[in-house]
Amino acid sequence: MCGIVAYLGSQEAYPLLIKGLKRLEYRGYDSAGIAVLNGEGLKAYKRKGKVQELEDFIHSTPPLGKAGIGHTRWATHGIPNDINAHPHLSGNGKLALVHNGIIENYALLKAALEKEGHHFQSDTDTEVLAHLIEEVQNRGQLPLEEAVRIALKRVVGAYAIVVISQDEPGKLVAARKASPLVIGIGKQEFFLASDATPIIEHTRKVVYLNDEEIAVVSLHDGMKVKTIQNEVQTPFIHELDMELESLEKSGFDYFMLKEIYEQPTTIADSMRGRINVEENLVRLGGLGNHIDKICQARRIIIVACGTSWHSGLIGEYLIEDLARIQVEVEYASEFRYRNPIITDEDVVIAISQSGETADTLAALELAKEKGATALGIVNVVGSSIARLTDAGAYIHAGPEIGVASTKAFTGQVALLTMLALVLAKKKGTINPDYFHRLVAELANIPNKVEKVLEYDAEIKYIAREIKDRHNALYLGRGCNFPVALEGALKLKEISYIHAEGYPAAEMKHGPIALIDEQMPVIVIATNKSAYDKIASNIQEVKARKGMVIAVVTERDKAISEMADFAIRIPDTEEPLTPLLSVIPLQLLSYYIAVMRGCNVDQPRNLAKSVTVE
Ligand code: AGP
Ligand code: GLU
Repeated sequence: MCGIVAYLGSQEAYPLLIKGLKRLEYRGYDSAGIAVLNGEGLKAYKRKGKVQELEDFIHSTPPLGKAGIGHTRWATHGIPNDINAHPHLSGNGKLALVHNGIIENYALLKAALEKEGHHFQSDTDTEVLAHLIEEVQNRGQLPLEEAVRIALKRVVGAYAIVVISQDEPGKLVAARKASPLVIGIGKQEFFLASDATPIIEHTRKVVYLNDEEIAVVSLHDGMKVKTIQNEVQTPFIHELDMELESLEKSGFDYFMLKEIYEQPTTIADSMRGRINVEENLVRLGGLGNHIDKICQARRIIIVACGTSWHSGLIGEYLIEDLARIQVEVEYASEFRYRNPIITDEDVVIAISQSGETADTLAALELAKEKGATALGIVNVVGSSIARLTDAGAYIHAGPEIGVASTKAFTGQVALLTMLALVLAKKKGTINPDYFHRLVAELANIPNKVEKVLEYDAEIKYIAREIKDRHNALYLGRGCNFPVALEGALKLKEISYIHAEGYPAAEMKHGPIALIDEQMPVIVIATNKSAYDKIASNIQEVKARKGMVIAVVTERDKAISEMADFAIRIPDTEEPLTPLLSVIPLQLLSYYIAVMRGCNVDQPRNLAKSVTVE
């Protein structure tokens, strides 16, 4: 599920592998390792912990060699330790393998291999695959790529792998199924990785491997791709559109802070070429041909996980309210396993930053199988979800490195807002004046986000008041209820403070029992339509001595007087408030986490893209 990097060419592999692994650190991991091939054979080094610890460990004797593989592991089978870290060697030590994903039938395969006399060092599923490839190769006296292909036919599960063998130097074999793998093509050299971030500084020419494809890169024969069924494929070479600068912190302490601050630009980027205020126009080119289909759909079903699921919930409020189309928002993991009723009259929209989330991908596959139109709102260009959809729209937020999603969330919400407007206009369910006001106001949102960011110091001050608490409650109503969920998720993820999000009115049905002087309650109180009701909810908290932090609009009086702390955001049209109200919650979590000494960009146990179930 985490990172793979590999190199084959005329440069020394070791420094390239270490640098590549550092680029992949943002994905979250618990151990790291490399294997380099030279005339003496394969040399593997593995360490629990950070890439830096691996580098310190190797420091005095860096291995020489012009081919190698590297890995950051996010343990699924076996605890994070040096032995379970990748690369894993085969029984005779002649081939090494890095793997992202899960070999589901590893226990059966392992038992069969043990009968053949194989002994295993680690608890991982991955080591079993290394032995299986060796066994297949030895039995049939096969070239490496053929042994990999036949071995993979026996594997059930998800994988991206790169294999290197000392018997066949000058060659790497890679394969993927449900876990991404990108091949960068340089001049007489190849860079393989689980995403483009380690590749971009070397080459912009990449091939995204498809599911069940095997690639052989060779110094003599270039690149060849075939399927596991042995059909030769013609790989399509993409040009990467990504700036190296977007992978650097650019003076910020953490990527997360940088990404929070990028939002005026990224929201504007999500709307570039799609909104024109003078012409009173909103257009989503990527969905062009499908707009009629969506308007006529029986239902729109949004499938997503985590933060992307929260943006989907906001989409539900906006699309139902403005375009009067029924929307359901489902956790992709539940949807895929509960035998949902889907027909060709439904439109399923997958929302995903990474475009690689296993559950979302599987939900979309299921929807397609059942005949629904499959659309996507995705950030990572060329990702698996983007490629599976019938059509879609990229949010153009640029690489999101912080594990906690921020700019992707606002990009998704901006996109869903545009979608709601396009549909509403097409269906004629929106008053033309209101449409125009919303378009103009949406175009101006990046300036207003800029204004919210000016409250940084106040938010930092409030963070100090909350940083030692053990729990927090987030409340919101209407389209700000999902913002409450998102605020709570951000706090949990990076500060490890337990937090819950609730619809404000739901508080009295249970969570109110938790409120005492130790409980900070963060209330999004920007909705004009429910202002008095939210004020009553705040009174209920105050009556039980809870601490209230209210997010209010600039000219607010009543609620800011009631609250212990008020965070002001510019006034805007109600459906657009989530794009502003979420910003202070992101900053609040960020400062609390920093004050608690947490690793904001790589929170414990989390991975940036969850490519396993
Ligand atoms: C967000 O802060 C989380 N790291 C997580 O909930 C994430 O949103 C979720 O895993 C879905 O990821 P995706 O958008 O890449 O599909
Ligand atoms: N399942 C493998 C393991 O536990 C690979 C995990 C990963 O994707 O990092 O080692």
